[in-house]
Amino acid sequence: MATSFARMDESTREQWEQIGRESLRNQGRVAERVLGLLRSLAQVTDGFAVDQLSHSLQTATRAERAGADPELVVASLCHDIGKAISGPNHPEIAAAILRPYVRDEVHWAIQVHQDFQGRHYYHHFGMDRDARERHRGHPGFGLAERFADEWDQAAFDPDYDALPLEHFEPLLRKVFAVPRDYVASARQG
Ligand SMILES: [Fe+2]
Repeated sequence: MATSFARMDESTREQWEQIGRESLRNQGRVAERVLGLLRSLAQVTDGFAVDQLSHSLQTATRAERAGADPELVVASLCHDIGKAISGPNHPEIAAAILRPYVRDEVHWAIQVHQDFQGRHYYHHFGMDRDARERHRGHPGFGLAERFADEWDQAAFDPDYDALPLEHFEPLLRKVFAVPRDYVASARQG
C-alpha cells in the first residue's frame, strides 16, 4: 500500500510533514549531485588550455587564497557547472543551483558573470566589452568585478598549482547542507 498520496489534491498535512523530514534527511544528496557535475567537467575541454574542472579548481583556489568566505569559495568552484549540461546558458544553470545556499550578492555575481568576463574577450566576437556597465550601481557589482577579473578570467593556466577537489569537498558539503530559506525549498512541490 502506498505511504503517500497519488494526487496532490488528496494530500494531507501529515504526508507533507513526512516528505519534509525525509527531504531534509536526504539533503546530502544535493552536494553529491553537485560534486558529480564538477567531476564531469574533467571531460569538457572544448579547445581551452585546461579542462573545465581544472578551470573551476583554479578559480576556487584563487578565491580562497584571496581570503574569500566559504559561500564565495564554493560559488567560485561551482560557477561553471552549467557547462556540464549546456554552454550558452551555463551561468543561469549554475546560479539557479547555488541560489538557495548562498547570499543574494553571490548568486547574482554568478548569474551575470559572463557580462563581466566579456571585458576580457568579447572584442574577438565584435561584442560589447563593457557589457558589465549595464549592471553598474548594483550592490554586487564590486564582487562580480573581482570574481571575473581576479579569479575567473585568470584561471586557464596549465601550470597553476590549484588545490584538488578533495580540498573543497567538506566546505561544499557544508554550504549545500541547509537551504538558506526553508520556505523557498518548500515551494519545490
Ligand atoms: Fe569560468
